[in-house]
Amino acid sequence: METLIIGGSGQLGSELLKIIPQSIGTFRNNNSGGIILDLIDTRSIRKLIVGLKPKVIINTAALTNVDLCEKDKKSAYTINAHAVREITMAAEDLGAYLVHVSTDYVFDGADGNYDEDAIQNPINYYGLSKLLGDSHACTYDNSLVIRTSGVFGLKGNFPRFVLDSLKNNKGINVVNSYYSPIHARMLARQMKIVMERKHTGILNIASERVSRLELANRICDIFDLNKELINEASESSLNWVARRPKDSSLNIDRSLSILGKGYSSIDANIKMMGEE
Ligand SMILES: NC(=O)c1ccc[n+]([C@@H]2O[C@H](COP(=O)([O-])OP(=O)(O)OC[C@H]3O[C@@H](n4cnc5c(N)ncnc54)[C@H](OP(=O)(O)O)[C@@H]3O)[C@@H](O)[C@H]2O)c1
Repeated sequence: METLIIGGSGQLGSELLKIIPQSIGTFRNNNSGGIILDLIDTRSIRKLIVGLKPKVIINTAALTNVDLCEKDKKSAYTINAHAVREITMAAEDLGAYLVHVSTDYVFDGADGNYDEDAIQNPINYYGLSKLLGDSHACTYDNSLVIRTSGVFGLKGNFPRFVLDSLKNNKGINVVNSYYSPIHARMLARQMKIVMERKHTGILNIASERVSRLELANRICDIFDLNKELINEASESSLNWVARRPKDSSLNIDRSLSILGKGYSSIDANIKMMGEE
C-alpha cells in the first residue's frame, strides 16, 4: 500500500479513495472493507499505522458536527486533536508524507478572506479542537495542512439540504453568513495534484466566497427550483448550540496560482451535485 486514507467513509475520504492509486481507507467498523481504526482509541493509532508502512498518510477524519463538538468536548479533542498527534508521530516514525485536512472554522469570521498566514481565533470548540490538531501536524516538516471550507457531497451538508428540501417543495431558513464551499470531489482532485507535487506547509483549497443565501439562489438557478421557498433567518432562530463565524471565507490566491482558476467556480462545484 502506498497511501493510507484515514476517514474512508467521509465525504472527502470516499472521493480520495476513488482517485488515489494504491490507496486504502480506514473505517470505524468493518462494514465498508479496508482497515478498522477508531480514533477514540488513541493508543492504537501510532502502532497500527507504523505496522502498515504507508508512504503517504492523508487524514480526512474528524468529528465534523459542530454542535456535537460543543456538547462533547472530550470526543472532539480526542478525534480532532489528540489523534492527529498520534498520526503525526507515526508519519515521523516512517518518514511518510502527511496530509492533514483543516477548516475555515479556526477563524472567528470577523473579517473573512483568510489567507494561509492569517491569525486563527476559533469561536467554537470544533474550531479550537481542529486548530490543536493542525498545530500537531505542523510540527512535522514533511506535512501539508489543507485548509478548506463547507465541504459538500452526498450527505449532511448545507447545499445538499437546500437541493433536497427545494426539490420536495419544502421551505428553508438560511442564515446569511459567508464561506467558500467546495464539492468533496473537486477538493479531492485538487488535493491529488498538490500531493503529487509534494507541497508542504499550509494551503487553502476552497471555492470563491459566497453567502449561504447567494448559494441557495444559485442552486435554484442551476436546478430550476423555486426561490420563494428560501427565507433569510437569524442565527438565534436556529437554536444552534455552537456559535458560527459570520464570514469564514478563505483567500485562495496561492492555490489558484498552483491549480488554475477553473476549480474554484461556485457554479462548477454546485453542478457536481447533479452528477450524483
Ligand atoms: N464538512 C465540512 O463542511 C468541512 C469544512 C471545512 C473543513 N472540513 C474538514 O474536512 C475534513 C473532511 O470532512 P468531511 O466533510 O469529509 O467529513 P465527514 O463526511 O463528516 O467524515 C468524517 C470522517 O471522519 C470519520 N470519523 C469520525 N470519528 C471517527 C473516529 N472516532 N474514528 C475514526 N474515524 C472517525 C468518519 O467516520 P464515520 O463515517 O464512521 O463517522 C468519517 O469517515 C475534516 O477534517 C473536516 O474537519 C470539513
